[in-house]
Amino acid sequence: MAATTTTGLEHVLPLGSRLNERGALEVGGCDVTELAREYGTPAYVYAEDDIRARARSYREAFAARTDRFEIVYASKAAPVTAIYALLAEEGLSCDVASGGELHLALAGGFAPERLYMHGNNKTEAELAYAVECGVGTIVVDSFDEVERLRRLAPGQQVMLRVTPGIKPETHEKIATGQEDSKFGFGLDDVPRAVEACESAGLELRGLHAHIGSQIYELSVLERLAEVLGGMGDYPLLNLGGGLGIAYTAEDRPPSVDAYAEALLSRVPDGVTVLCEPGRSLVGNAGITLYTVGTVKRIPRVRTYVAVDGGMSDNLRPMLYAARYEAQIADRFGGSDLCTVAGMHCESGDILIRDAVLDDPRPGDVLMIGATGAYGHAMANNYNAIPRPPVILCRDGHARVAVRRETYDDLTLRDR
Ligand code: LLP
Repeated sequence: MAATTTTGLEHVLPLGSRLNERGALEVGGCDVTELAREYGTPAYVYAEDDIRARARSYREAFAARTDRFEIVYASKAAPVTAIYALLAEEGLSCDVASGGELHLALAGGFAPERLYMHGNNKTEAELAYAVECGVGTIVVDSFDEVERLRRLAPGQQVMLRVTPGIKPETHEKIATGQEDSKFGFGLDDVPRAVEACESAGLELRGLHAHIGSQIYELSVLERLAEVLGGMGDYPLLNLGGGLGIAYTAEDRPPSVDAYAEALLSRVPDGVTVLCEPGRSLVGNAGITLYTVGTVKRIPRVRTYVAVDGGMSDNLRPMLYAARYEAQIADRFGGSDLCTVAGMHCESGDILIRDAVLDDPRPGDVLMIGATGAYGHAMANNYNAIPRPPVILCRDGHARVAVRRETYDDLTLRDR
């Protein structure tokens, strides 16, 4: 029998999600099976209020402890113009990691002075674009970049990206704080980098570090705050992003409040603390809808439930062995152990190795939770599959923020 609540997945699914009278999942007040019918699948569906609520909980957690703080949206997690717009409205600043993200942030309405430009190898063209747009702060990553900025942006406000030699417990591909990293200046190089900025006529505002992503261990972030706080008299310290989220029922990440406490209790008084959440602002706000196409029961081996997407709309299982939860969107529960496979021409295109579903059948809408961060962001066109739309839901109304790609889009750049 189908379940009547999302029991066990409340902390994975968007805030306010519920099963309606028909047993179908509602996100932002919209029945997701109706969304699938109207907009097709695969589709990324977000609850707008979830994103707003998380932005507010960051602001409130910091405001309860200090007046000197700034919450910066790490927009690589979900570079969608409409999401930039709503986070600008919520009073956040924004981290852009490329000229493209800068373009989207401006299109979303972020004031240029609220932007922080990142990148370990920003091109001349990107730096020139940033300067032309009036980007508030450039986070300098190398001595070569200091030289570029001397030419391109005298007087520019900058921060220095530091690699503090702290390795969090997370997937090695998303750990960035260890000494052996392509990012930033090692601790020993910081004094020389400060001098270089000064002699290049740049206005140094403070230090920045981001030690990694999908972190549950607050002790490493406390250590980071202590290390940066002990490096000198800087008015601004940006401690990066990285707070982990729940992908599966068992996952119990720390709260935003505990995270704020960890950072703020360790920095010296009078310092303005910045943090740069990406995943924890948008990750749980989004789900992906698919349609089941084939169900292959291989006796004594496994049951493959194949859906109409896969590694082109969610690379994370393949890149980081990331785990997710799936449910049939209008029949939560069940007891059939299945493997949810994508439709791409690779055996590794498996979205979930062990999903427990309720008698999956062709035509069912299958939802995977917690895809709001780095799903759309890392979508690609492998096998020339058009990328899914991004749909934002609020109070029972859905709007298409990014339309589905078409076959014509695939030939648009041909010459
Ligand atoms: N600040 C900087 C400088 C960053 O490089 C990142 C993420 C963040 C903030 C935000 O981190 P978050 O709060 O989202 O953990 N594609 C990978 C994640 C790569 C993160 C890269 N940098 C994934 O899907 O897990």
